[in-house]
Amino acid sequence: MTDQLAATATTLSTNGQTPVLEVKNLRVHYATPLGDVIAVNGVSFNLKKGETLGLVGESGCGKTTTAMGILRLVQPPGRIVGGQVLLNGVDVVALKDAELRDLRWRQAALIPQGAMNSLNPVMKIYDQIADGITTHEGRQPRRVLRERILGLLNMVGLPGRTADLFPHELSGGMKQRVCIAMAIALNPPLIVADEPTSALDVVVQRVVAQTLLDVKAKLGVSMILIGHDMGLQAQLVDRIAVMYAGNIVEIAPVKNIFEEPMHPYTQLLIASIPSIKEKKPLRVTEGLTHDLRNPPPGCIFQFRCPKVMEDCLHYVPPLRELKPEHFVACHLYE
Ligand SMILES: Nc1ncnc2c1ncn2[C@@H]1O[C@H](COP(=O)(O)OP(=O)(O)OP(=O)(O)O)[C@@H](O)[C@H]1O
Ligand SMILES: [Mg+2]
Repeated sequence: MTDQLAATATTLSTNGQTPVLEVKNLRVHYATPLGDVIAVNGVSFNLKKGETLGLVGESGCGKTTTAMGILRLVQPPGRIVGGQVLLNGVDVVALKDAELRDLRWRQAALIPQGAMNSLNPVMKIYDQIADGITTHEGRQPRRVLRERILGLLNMVGLPGRTADLFPHELSGGMKQRVCIAMAIALNPPLIVADEPTSALDVVVQRVVAQTLLDVKAKLGVSMILIGHDMGLQAQLVDRIAVMYAGNIVEIAPVKNIFEEPMHPYTQLLIASIPSIKEKKPLRVTEGLTHDLRNPPPGCIFQFRCPKVMEDCLHYVPPLRELKPEHFVACHLYE
């Protein structure tokens, strides 16, 4: 079954273009005294040049772990137990540590979850960005470096004087934009942004989102955008991958996900978006996710699915292309 999924992935929506990123059957576990937590359970997808893929799903479904797996940044007790991550054809999972250091930032940059809180509080913004650049490229003339850093700040809509400030002198939105500037410093073809607008108020969220769009338009980068906010996703991404309990259950162009969601979990996600026009009762997805250490046989969504059938209890539904570019893992459509 897993090989079958990996085979499907190679055809996942690249329209014949060579993808920037190919994730094939990625599996990440966390060791615990009571057994392995299966956080990412055979995730496969592709990303084209200049494309933005949204990765959505409830808290704990494995979004961050997928991101960390792609950049091989999973920390113990976590470990990648299988799969391939091909970044421009190079398998990140198989690289030696030294090769990996070179690849990070240059080939792929991460804006981690809660990035703005990870800025060094005792270093000026200029020095933090400069540090990243010189670590990868070696020392450079101060004037050249300064111009480059001011250019980066300008690219994310921050005034040049931001360079001479400490993180505590910036608002949350400004800090988050500094993190975006750091991510694009080495001009990587891929950016993975993990909830870049969470913990910001709505107005600032839009500013940061617009910054990401501007950066994407100017640099033509490919992006994976992790987030909960479906409204924001609708405006920012080209395709959406919906995750549930470590698995992608549906992946499709953003329009399809909103207009004709096919997986019952996606349907519940879409139905739970509040609307001001029609006041509707709040829909909740009943039940709890199973213990990730002990997934049930059959479909992983069976305990919470309003449309569960006999087959769902016994057979894992493969991710199949049911409409052009629209992949769904559900027995309803067999
Ligand atoms: N160090 C760890 N040890 C054990 N389990 C872990 C560890 N880190 C994460 N997990 C588990 O792995 C699963 C996936 O976690 P992950 O952080 O990737 O989820 P997420 O989708 O990013 O959630 P959120 O939306 O809250 O950021 C969760 O069930 C979590 O409990
Ligand atoms: Mg997360």
